[in-house]
Amino acid sequence: MRNEVKMISLPRIFDRRGNLSFVEQENHIPFQINRTFWIYDVPGGEERGGHAFKETEEFIVALSGSFDVVVDDGKGNVLTFQLNRSYYGLYVPKMLWRQMTNFSTNSVAMVLASTPYDANDYVRDYEVFKAMKQ
Ligand code: TYD
Repeated sequence: MRNEVKMISLPRIFDRRGNLSFVEQENHIPFQINRTFWIYDVPGGEERGGHAFKETEEFIVALSGSFDVVVDDGKGNVLTFQLNRSYYGLYVPKMLWRQMTNFSTNSVAMVLASTPYDANDYVRDYEVFKAMKQ
């Protein structure tokens, strides 16, 4: 299942003081978390992503607001996932092209990643990506 993109529901602890969700590595998500980053203050109409990773797996959560994640396997299969709740997220395995679009005002995308940042792990050329998937 580690090569399949999928939505993963997280635990929800309902409380009149406010609800709580959490995520544990190798429990709710199938990898060890080595990095967390977040994307915020995205101007209207902007897009993020537009690359694949050779090794990095990611879990993306809309902590606030909403956005779409478009995932492409380079073989003609393109899926769009809308993220708009903080109690689920999208697991993106390595070697899938991803683009983040349609950010709502004040949206916050939290990304848990399986690797520390490494510029060499990026595949930024779509044609190169497609060739690697042959
Ligand atoms: P990048 O992943 O290219 O953003 P996008 O989502 O638009 O593809 O990252 C943008 C810049 O931020 C790039 O110069 C690398 C830097 N960066 C880090 O230094 N550490 C990180 O963990 C990430 C995700 C990016």
